[in-house]
Amino acid sequence: MTDQTPDKLLLRALSGEALPRPPVWLMRQAGRYLPEYRELRAKAGGFLELCYNPDFAVEATLQPIRRYGFDAAILFSDILVVPHALGWRLWFEQGEGPRLDVQSPEAPLPRLIPEDLHRKLAPVYETLGRLREELPRETTLIGFAGAPWTLATYLAAGRGKDEQAAARRWMFSHPESFQALIDLLTEATVEYLSRQIEAGAEAVQLFDSWAGALAPRAFARFSVAPARRVVEALQARHPGVPVIGFPRGAGGGYALYARETGISGLGLDTSVSPAWAQSAIPASVTLQGNLDPLTLLPGSKALQSEAEAILEGFAGRTHIFNLGHGITPEADPAQVERLLKLIRG
Ligand code: CP3
Repeated sequence: MTDQTPDKLLLRALSGEALPRPPVWLMRQAGRYLPEYRELRAKAGGFLELCYNPDFAVEATLQPIRRYGFDAAILFSDILVVPHALGWRLWFEQGEGPRLDVQSPEAPLPRLIPEDLHRKLAPVYETLGRLREELPRETTLIGFAGAPWTLATYLAAGRGKDEQAAARRWMFSHPESFQALIDLLTEATVEYLSRQIEAGAEAVQLFDSWAGALAPRAFARFSVAPARRVVEALQARHPGVPVIGFPRGAGGGYALYARETGISGLGLDTSVSPAWAQSAIPASVTLQGNLDPLTLLPGSKALQSEAEAILEGFAGRTHIFNLGHGITPEADPAQVERLLKLIRG
């Protein structure tokens, strides 16, 4: 794939090429810090209406590309559309975030019927297809999914809270049904990402946002092993399409994740120093990250020095510039502009 798209800096970085400057995109680059996003969201009437309407989702994806010309566009959607498509109820409480039906360890799990899943997620695939036609030729289109563990934490608690204790309790009290839940979510993720690639995604990112809540043995079993399963299945179906893994908060576990999963890119959170990552992560894995998103708040004077430290820290290594977690609604659009100027010299 990459040889057909030599002008796409992000794909070149993911194939390990040394580049004159790092490609840059930001997690949550489409979102509430942009006035044009807030306007679109009001017009759509709600967040899920944005996700499931290709006209709105295409527009939300393109907004940050038009404004800043990032090297990659990430599909506008949410990780929770997969449990939603598997049959769990999903809604967003104003000002609080997502809510899902709580799944109890004793209750039966839904069965994965791929045609059903794809029918419900068809608007996402349509969005990707349209984006491939509308994006500038140098912009890489990234698809994504939530990792099984992170999705399981939302299903166990019905929401994100309390150190993901509900999912950890379940994992220890009913290990067999917990493994069955992880297996279901892993298979659904393979089907979903595979179809995203067929629809036009040129790379995919797996968000394991709550990996940091797992003790080492559980991390190996519920974050690393499912990620390896996803990468292997995608490589078999779509050879050469890179996968970026983001096991946020994994700490020392980042090294295991990079060695064992077969990912092409590794998303680093803010707790990891570039120097440690350079020494601990195999050179075959492209490093992505890891500026603190709060450097982008209005009045932040540290943006330049923090961004320069990231650039210097990853020098000599193939690097994708990004944040260590998603950009916040309070970020200043002018600070993002400053950051891009700095990275592009
Ligand atoms: O990065 C992008 O621009 C693409 C879109 C994207 C969204 N969510 C849009 C969104 C992506 C990649 C996600 C991933 C996601 N969603 C994650 C993993 C990454 C992470 O941040 O850890 C998680 C855990 C979720 C679940 C989720 N969705 C939460 C916890 C929330 C509430 C927090 C918040 O910011 O309000 C959402 C809502 C959400 N997802 C919004 C956006 C733009 C805000 C919705 C709004 O407009 O009110």
